[in-house]
Amino acid sequence: MQIIKSIAQMQDIAQQLNNQGKSIGFVPTMGFLHAGHESLLAQSRVDNPISILSIFVNPTQFNQASDFEGYPIDLEKDLVLAKKNQVDYVFIPDKTEIYVDAYRYQVQENQHSMLLEGEHRPGHFTGVLTVVLKLLNIVRPQKLYLGKKDYQQYRLIQDMVSAFFMPIEVIGCETLREIDGLAMSSRNVRLNTEERALAPVLYDVLATSKTAYEAQEKLIKYDFIKVEYVTDLESRRYAAVWLGQTRLIDNVEL
Ligand code: PAJ
Repeated sequence: MQIIKSIAQMQDIAQQLNNQGKSIGFVPTMGFLHAGHESLLAQSRVDNPISILSIFVNPTQFNQASDFEGYPIDLEKDLVLAKKNQVDYVFIPDKTEIYVDAYRYQVQENQHSMLLEGEHRPGHFTGVLTVVLKLLNIVRPQKLYLGKKDYQQYRLIQDMVSAFFMPIEVIGCETLREIDGLAMSSRNVRLNTEERALAPVLYDVLATSKTAYEAQEKLIKYDFIKVEYVTDLESRRYAAVWLGQTRLIDNVEL
């Protein structure tokens, strides 16, 4: 497993792999890897001779400075998990190199990105789409692996890839959950003991309510849960809630 920090070096390697006709599977992440990320890496390993993982805590997609500054980091553990999942290259770019343009150029979607997460996190999806476009142009994969945990993100990236005629297959992987139903997330470590005990309620309520309204009514009964939204859209139910200082999102197919 090789660790690559320079963009030019990553581009050289991608070029060589493409010349050799080796299909590249790509898993972009912000690190602090867990079993959800590992499931994407495992799928890439099955589908491709080469798997590339990127770890980049992307500043432009955070709409709160405290969320960015407090984002959990454990590179040593990430590298152990990457190796365990037979990743070939770990790409860890530098933010000044990624944003060589000082974020003057941005990819903006003007419809679906305004809803749900986009409505509550202004600028979030522009940051996501911009960094993913940059990463795809550097890594040049044939297959891109994304989690349905962030379903709106998965769909927006899939549409961007087709809008810009990029020859990449976008593969959506199922959400990995803890035994009690809580969707795995890097941010779960921020939950204290009481919040962690309450957190599985989110998935349970989303999955068992008849309507979004009913789910919302059930969730607001919990004193420690602050509901941001529960919305049904095109046969999927999406929600974001706050448990103390931690924001959780989840979605289920209806
Ligand atoms: P991050 O939150 O690190 O997630 C990286 C990938 O792992 C995303 O595709 C996400 O949907 C997937 N993932 C996270 N939790 C999962 C779970 N419980 N089950 C299955 N997949 C899961 O999403 C991002 O990073 C960033 O926005 C990124 C796309 C890297 C752009 O910066």
